[in-house]
Amino acid sequence: MNEMINVALPKGRLGDKAYEILERSGYPCPAMKEDNRKLTFENPEIGVRYFLVKPSDVAVYVERGAADIGIAGKDILLEYRPDVYELLDLKMGRCRMCVAGPKDFRDDPAQTLRVATKFPNIARAYYSGLSREIELIHLNGSIELAPLVGLSDVIVDIVETGKTLYENGLAPLAEIVDISARLIANKASFKFKGDALRALCRQMERTMNL
Ligand code: PRP
Repeated sequence: MNEMINVALPKGRLGDKAYEILERSGYPCPAMKEDNRKLTFENPEIGVRYFLVKPSDVAVYVERGAADIGIAGKDILLEYRPDVYELLDLKMGRCRMCVAGPKDFRDDPAQTLRVATKFPNIARAYYSGLSREIELIHLNGSIELAPLVGLSDVIVDIVETGKTLYENGLAPLAEIVDISARLIANKASFKFKGDALRALCRQMERTMNL
């Protein structure tokens, strides 16, 4: 019997690109091209079902088994450490996790460093590795604003083109880690639907190398 594979795709540009690879890898779902606001799409003939979820939630769906596999940014995997398998680096959605701040910023070791970020665990781990005491300020977006208005000294955030930093008079000060999108799998699914999931992973890898 053909088992259904449930795939959590991040809504937006990354999800569109990932779906394109899946489509070219033999997992098309014509319903995905319809212009509507549905969140689930199914192709029963080949046994695949796609869910559209907020990018930062993909790992939650996969970890809890609501989806067998998904596409998640390495930033989310590092921050939340979900208990999932990481199957493949999709080499898309590339960016860098950086410390950024005013161009002329000089860290004064005598002062506690105020760090604003959407990624408190990544920031904490980074500064703890440097034995640098910090005060974390957890924000949900527009992180670049924090040093501009005196809320923080620096930020830990994603830099893709660098445009947001540049246009706000900020600059990258240190790189923490390279980020890209990863194919992740639920651990139980990988046991029970292992053949199907391994085949999907192999096909995606082949498509990416074409
Ligand atoms: C991300 C990130 C930076 C920006 C980096 O923000 O937090 O602000 O993109 O991209 P760039 O280097 O190409 O300018 P996002 O668009 O997700 O918005 P938000 O964090 O402010 O919600």
